[in-house]
Order: sequence, then C-alpha cells, then structure tokens
Amino acid sequence: MTAQLLTADFVQEQVAAVPGAVQAVIETHDLTKVYQMGDTEVRALNGVSVQINKGEFVAIVGPSGSGKSTLMAILGALDKPTRGSYRLDGTEIGEMSDDSLSDIRNYRIGFVFQKFNLLARSTTLANVALPLVYAGIGAKERDQRARRTLEMVGLGERIHHRPNELSGGQQQRVAIARALINNPSIILADEPTGNLDSRTGEEIMRLFRQLHTEQGITLILVTHSPEIAAQADRMITMRDGEVVDEAHA
Ligand SMILES: Nc1ncnc2c1ncn2[C@@H]1O[C@H](COP(=O)(O)OP(=O)(O)OP(=O)(O)O)[C@@H](O)[C@H]1O
Ligand SMILES: [Mg+2]
Repeated sequence: MTAQLLTADFVQEQVAAVPGAVQAVIETHDLTKVYQMGDTEVRALNGVSVQINKGEFVAIVGPSGSGKSTLMAILGALDKPTRGSYRLDGTEIGEMSDDSLSDIRNYRIGFVFQKFNLLARSTTLANVALPLVYAGIGAKERDQRARRTLEMVGLGERIHHRPNELSGGQQQRVAIARALINNPSIILADEPTGNLDSRTGEEIMRLFRQLHTEQGITLILVTHSPEIAAQADRMITMRDGEVVDEAHA
C-alpha cells in the first residue's frame, strides 16, 4: 500500500468517526474494465477512483465511448470490474454474495435509463409495481404503493395507460417511479433526458432535483448537456476510461 493510500484511508476513518460528518456512500479505487474482443482488448475503464458522498448530486460527463455507462453499470452492481475495488456504504461489492447483490439492485439503488425500458403491454401501474412483485409483496399493497409513487411524479391520472399512450416525458416519469418504488437511497440515471426535447428534459430534471433536495437521495446522472451538468453539486469528466476532472459547482 502506498503512503498516499494510507493517508486517504486514514482521513476516511476520521471522517466516519465524526457523527453527522460527510460520508462516502460510494468509493471506488482503481476500477478497470477490459473487454476482450477476439485478440483485441477494449479498455472501457482505466483506473477510476471516485468518492461520492451521501446526498450528493453528481453529474458524469465526457465524450461518447469514454466509459460513463460502463462505470454506471459497475456502480449499480449490474456488472463487475476486471480489477479494482468498489465499496458501497463501506462494504466491498466484490466480496458480496449474489443474494446481497440482488438486494442492492432491488432496494438500495434505483436505475433510470435513456430508453425508458418499460414493458410495452403493461399499464403504467403494472410497470411501476413490477419491482414489488420480485420483492414478494402482495397485490393490494403493490397497487397502493405504485399509485402513491405515480402521484408523486405527477402521473396519478395516467395509471391505466400503456407506454405508447404516454408522452416521452411521461414515460420517463413512469421509469423514475419504478426506480423509486422500493425507496432507494441512490439513483443512477444514464442520460435520462437523452430521448427528450429540452423542455421535457427540464421537467424531468425538476423532478430529479426535487428528489435530491427534498428526500436527500444521492443522485448520479450521466448527461451530454452542459446545462444539466451545471445543476449538479459536482461534475466528473471522463475521457478514455479515466476521470480527468472533478469540478465542484
Ligand atoms: N459489452 C462490451 N463489449 C465490448 N466493448 C464494450 C462493451 N461495452 C462497452 N464497450 C466499449 O467500452 C467503451 C466505453 O463504453 P461506454 O458505453 O461506457 O461509453 P459511454 O461513455 O457510456 O458512451 P456514450 O456517451 O456513447 O453512451 C467503448 O469504447 C465501448 O465500445
Ligand atoms: Mg453511455
């Protein structure tokens, strides 16, 4: 271990010892992801070390192919790094059982994608209630909670619509409600406004900001839009699989 590393660990311990102090909810060290494509290696992440604090709103920006989605998939425990460490709330993800990992995906972290990934044949209500089916919650409670969450995102009047009967912004709000249904403390959003016009995108951003400020959700959001990135507490810039800048607002 290098002296610099010891110092970082020491500081983290001191911070964690102070009640109410800022704490890292996500901490990665030297994350590397290599894809083997025949005889060529694609290095999607090349030594990413980031720390994200509880309740922080972080934007991740960078050119296409710089590794943003790869990093998000690892942070969301949807994918594993080739090398490096990822601690979520102090626990090393690489050492967790499959059950613990699926608990993290179901309860701790909510995902929102650019393509809304809704079930086309299912109603708004059924789409939002789906994670509760996996959680083994009964039909009546599923319905109640899905309704409540849909009301929160302003879609209380659209519960029986199917995705193709909704606008793009409404479909994304359904996806956000689905991500919120199990009360996650972290939301990972990969270009959530990428398929929306700028006005609808701003409406979705208002909803995210509200979740962040009113519910203290830790929000990590990938975007190509400088205007959206400027709303974050911090902007992490990636290039060629590396973090090249971490500007605070
Ligand atoms: N499953 C995969 N197999 C092989 N290479 C991959 C795979 N997924 C991603 N890559 C490569 O890894 C690199 C990073 O991809 P990634 O999707 O993380 O970029 P990104 O920053 O999200 O880009 P964009 O802004 O276009 O979404 C790219 O060069 C990509 O081609
Ligand atoms: Mg991407």
